[in-house]
Amino acid sequence: MQTDELLEDARQAMKKSYNTYSHFAVGAALRTEQGKVFTGTNIENASFSLSICAERVAIFKAVSEGYRSFTDLAIVSSSQIPAFPCGACRQVLQEFSPRIMIYIQDNDKQGFSLTDLLPNPFGSDTLPTTK
Ligand code: THU
Repeated sequence: MQTDELLEDARQAMKKSYNTYSHFAVGAALRTEQGKVFTGTNIENASFSLSICAERVAIFKAVSEGYRSFTDLAIVSSSQIPAFPCGACRQVLQEFSPRIMIYIQDNDKQGFSLTDLLPNPFGSDTLPTTK
């Protein structure tokens, strides 16, 4: 199943987590509309606010390689409790793929649409300069 493969890619990425401060590991795998997968893991910093989430690492890797449209994202973490993407990552996903499906480990393989996870989003169409 494609979702299982994406979750496995996220699990592999999580092994590279640099989480020396939180001791919380996160892995993400993002599939482009062309079927290419970009992975990411969380990378922390002694200046805590400079830490970055696994999801945004995957998104920024993909965008910097020329991919801007994504179909699904798998997220795994070292927690027993399913880890949903933080608000900042939801907003960054919104910029590129507002209807992306999100799969979270140990969540009965149920997918969540970003439309449900980020209702009433702030987007480029709100800005007068982009109209
Ligand atoms: N983290 C993620 O990687 N993704 C999220 O959606 C939430 C939080 C990371 C950031 C930090 O390294 C650690 O989890 C604790 O917040």
